[in-house]
Amino acid sequence: MKIALGSDHAGFPLKKEIIDHLQVKNIEIEDFGTFSEDSCDYPDYALKVAQNVANKNYDFGILVCGTGIGISIAANKVPGVRAALCGDTFSAHASREHNNANILAIGQRVVGVGLALDIVDTFLSAEFQGGRHQRRIDKITGIERKYNK
Ligand code: RB5
Repeated sequence: MKIALGSDHAGFPLKKEIIDHLQVKNIEIEDFGTFSEDSCDYPDYALKVAQNVANKNYDFGILVCGTGIGISIAANKVPGVRAALCGDTFSAHASREHNNANILAIGQRVVGVGLALDIVDTFLSAEFQGGRHQRRIDKITGIERKYNK
C-alpha cells in the first residue's frame, strides 16, 4: 500500500505523527509537504496529493489542515477524488465502505493525536462494499463529468 500525505502549516505536526505511525507499520509513504510550520496555503498541498491519488500513483491520500475542511474542499475539486473529512472512527470506516473515499482528511485542531491515528488505521483497513454504493459513486462521477466539460 502506498500513501500520499500533505498538510498545511496547521496540520504539519499531526502529519508528522501520522507519517511516523505509518512507517512503523512499514507502509510506503510520500510526503508532498508542507515541511514546516511556516504559514502556507492548504490548496497547494491538497492539489499535489489529489492529483497523485486521482492518477492512481498512490492507493490513498491523507490530508491534514487546522480543521480538515479547507483541504478536503480543495481536494474534492480534482475529478476522481473522494476526500472524506473524518473526526471519528465510524465515519472513517463508513467513508471507505459506502463512499469509496480515496483521501482521508483530518483536522489537527479538532482531534487529538490518539484519535487521529485510530481514524487513519480504521480508514486504511476498511473496504469498499460495492453494490448499491457503486451506483451512487457512479452518480457522483456523472456530476463531475457534467461540470468538467
Ligand atoms: C489555517 O489557519 C487554517 O485556516 C487551515 O488550516 C484550515 O483549517 C482551513 O480550512
